[in-house]
Amino acid sequence: MKARKAHKIRRVKRGESPEGRLLVIDNASELLTLKGDNRRPRKGEGLKDIGSIQNGAVVIENGRIIRVGPRDEVLADTNSEGAVVLDASDKVVMPGFVDPHTHLVFAGSREKELGWKIEGASYTDIAERGGGIVSTMRATREASHEQLLQLGKQRLDVMLRHGTTSVEAKSGYGLRTKDEIKILEVTKRLSEEHQIDISPTFLGAHAVPPEFKDNTDAYVNQVMEEMLPVVADEELADFCDVFCERGFFDADQSRRILNEGKTYGLIPKVHADELSDLGGAELAADVGAISADHLEKASDAGLGRMIDEDVVGVLLPGTSFSTNLDYPEARHMIDMGLPVALATDFNPNCWTKSMHFIISLACYKMRMFPSEAIVASTINAAHAVGRAGEVGSLEPGKLGDVIVLNIGNHEQIPYQFAFNHVETVIKAGEVVYRRE
Ligand code: NIG
Ligand code: FE
Repeated sequence: MKARKAHKIRRVKRGESPEGRLLVIDNASELLTLKGDNRRPRKGEGLKDIGSIQNGAVVIENGRIIRVGPRDEVLADTNSEGAVVLDASDKVVMPGFVDPHTHLVFAGSREKELGWKIEGASYTDIAERGGGIVSTMRATREASHEQLLQLGKQRLDVMLRHGTTSVEAKSGYGLRTKDEIKILEVTKRLSEEHQIDISPTFLGAHAVPPEFKDNTDAYVNQVMEEMLPVVADEELADFCDVFCERGFFDADQSRRILNEGKTYGLIPKVHADELSDLGGAELAADVGAISADHLEKASDAGLGRMIDEDVVGVLLPGTSFSTNLDYPEARHMIDMGLPVALATDFNPNCWTKSMHFIISLACYKMRMFPSEAIVASTINAAHAVGRAGEVGSLEPGKLGDVIVLNIGNHEQIPYQFAFNHVETVIKAGEVVYRRE
């Protein structure tokens, strides 16, 4: 067997970059700045706004972007003596991807469900046959803090090599207080120890655990009365999410949990209208959610409410691909005026860590234009996790999270599908990965 060449990921703590040292990324054949009004997620024609510049350059100092634009202008203003210069000729330079919906921390895997899917089993059939979320819950409850930490690190390493520099990560495979807390504590350590920044989400209401079979309300009470106070007290999450779906949590139960989460300062998110229209999109608008995710079956009325309230629709085409579902109607949603983002939904039912693959699915399967899919994977994804002031575009003052892709223009990103185009990843001004 051929030995696999190990990719090198240099571990550098954020903020370690030497005072005053400049990093110049020069000669980009296409620089995508994504510059724009960052107060609201982009919609309509704004979704095409990638801020493309031919022959561009970016300058980063102490982890933050200080200049960006056409190279002649940028270099005229820069004293690059002593700077580290990265040549990006014939390459695309853009912000690191933000992946705003993942289930990062769990144990085990579910490849045996693939055969069941091939035989025709649906997501619900699989759950009824003992697979699905509850089977991952069993493996995750048995795993130690240390084991989950190692799994999380390996997954984040792969994401980083694929150009993702920020992720959201949900709990939801513990489904009892101590294990939900274990997952969130692991997530917190991952965020401290890995280069990728993590936005943590509490998803205690991901499924009803076997101990509460046929008594969903009692489990909902446990989430509200026992779990939420600990999550808030230990400051383990920014967001509170629920799986609002038939056989999981109905709209009323979901609403109670999200409203209770708000009293602790947790911002609502919703797994909405994936397999059936339970009014998840309307619920997201009602409770002031930052995003409603999935939306395969969302109604126009629900989408309209989201548009009114600026709720980002996070679309997850990897899930449609791996679960044999209809794809969300992205073209229709965008034409209606919905601000959309894209995410991997990395989880044991949808095992991809590649935002490139998601962008390709978005274009080939959901009729999104390459520029729209790029906005949806960067600045709009940052909006979906409340970080649009920090990441998602290359603008002075923002974090120096930049990727260099070994292709000549942005349309190549989706066009050449199922391939990792990343050559260099820069996180907060430090080169953290270079393809040999
Ligand atoms: O976002 N839909 C619910 N939750 C996950 C799947 C979780 C699982 O099957 O383990 C999702 O697709
Ligand atoms: Fe999910």
